[in-house]
Amino acid sequence: MEGNQIKQRENWGSRIGFLMAAAGSAVGLGNIWRFPYTAGENGGGAFVIIYTIFALIIGISIMLAEFTVGRRTSLSAVGAYKSYSKKWTFAGALGVLSAFFIMGFYPVVGGWSLAYVFKSFSGLLANPEAIGTTFEAFMSNPIQPIIWMIIYLALNVIIVAKGISGGIEKAGKVLMPTLFVLLIFISIRSISLPGASAGLEFLFKPDWSKVNGATILAALGQAFFSLSLGMGCMITYGSYLSKSENLPSNATIVTILDTCIAILAGIAIFPGVFAFGLEPTAGPGLVFVVVPSVFAELGGAGVLFSVVFFIAFTVAALTSSVSLLEVVTSYLIDQKNVPRKTGVTSASIIMIATSILSSLSLGVMSGFKIFGAGIFDFLDILTDKIFLAIGGMFIAIFTGWVIKKEDLKEETTNGGKLKFSLFEAWYFLLKYVIPILIFFVALMGIFAIEQTSLMIFGVLLIVVLAIFSKKL
Ligand code: PHE
Repeated sequence: MEGNQIKQRENWGSRIGFLMAAAGSAVGLGNIWRFPYTAGENGGGAFVIIYTIFALIIGISIMLAEFTVGRRTSLSAVGAYKSYSKKWTFAGALGVLSAFFIMGFYPVVGGWSLAYVFKSFSGLLANPEAIGTTFEAFMSNPIQPIIWMIIYLALNVIIVAKGISGGIEKAGKVLMPTLFVLLIFISIRSISLPGASAGLEFLFKPDWSKVNGATILAALGQAFFSLSLGMGCMITYGSYLSKSENLPSNATIVTILDTCIAILAGIAIFPGVFAFGLEPTAGPGLVFVVVPSVFAELGGAGVLFSVVFFIAFTVAALTSSVSLLEVVTSYLIDQKNVPRKTGVTSASIIMIATSILSSLSLGVMSGFKIFGAGIFDFLDILTDKIFLAIGGMFIAIFTGWVIKKEDLKEETTNGGKLKFSLFEAWYFLLKYVIPILIFFVALMGIFAIEQTSLMIFGVLLIVVLAIFSKKL
């Protein structure tokens, strides 16, 4: 049975429910935590331009491909690929593995955010000079961040255990708009700080001399990470989509929204970075230092704003990490026939263990390196810089070469009911342009990046997976 409806599937409660959930998956730490510091580390303006082009061209195309494959098969990543050809099982398996790896560090950062809700309450903003050192001390503490990470992960488990429309949709509906409004507010405050214009210049004025293979790969990886692509997440979400949804417009809306929020986060953060005399290359602590510093300027009201910001930030992270957990869970449900609760619990136990190691790698275990990287960075680089991009390449090849063109056309036009005038262009991109482009960007990046050996290890891991995945 080739990619047809196989069983009755839960559906999203409503159109807006799906959009919110897909946008909820996309908008998360990737936009607000990762985008600003990656842009900072990669020279600013030029990175932002390359990122935006990748998001709009490759991002929309791959997202549409994932929605299409998901809805066509009504199955999550592994099953979706497998229903066409056993040879492709590995591409789905790579997605599940990516979700596992990302969930080996994402909850650590989610935990930081949760902790900052409470820290904002208890006097974090009282001494603006100490905000930077507070973050450093907190992040490298062996116990505190682990406790917060576990609480954060427990919230994920509760949401995912309740099933698709119950938990995920509700959380997203209220807090996503709150986050958006707060980011606009912080941007306005940030821009009005003395010396802020240097931040906007950094963010928007490209310095092409800073661009090399590593920058381009960082932009591609960031686009995939931020849009939740290349690992079957949007296949899984698409599998719950009703047959009447307009896939091309959903993919476009989610991508544009996600990109706007990343850039908005940049506008909120960089003027502050320059105004407070911080370094744009400061790394993962950026948002945790700059945002409280902006709020500290506001006195008492700042505390309230900071609390609300970190609550909204935590929820944005949650709506993303539940989608990661859902990828693993739905794999266990669809392929291994385990009940939902068992799937969630067993997946999250492994995630806790990995996240503990990740958190410790930023402090007491910082001397322990795999291919030159601590565990946190190892998982981050492996997924963001290689697995997701290669996963995206596979989905493009799969949709372009394995699925029949008529089937794609039927699915994306809802059986001819919808007009999708860019179908041919999309198909051409998927079939030729995107796979070749990703291949070259990855190849250039692997050798331009500092961690070449880690990247080669990643590629070998994919090969091993391809060999052994038939059993999955
Ligand atoms: N897109 C999410 C974020 O930006 C992270 C994510 C990646 C979620 C991959 C699902 C899949 O935070």
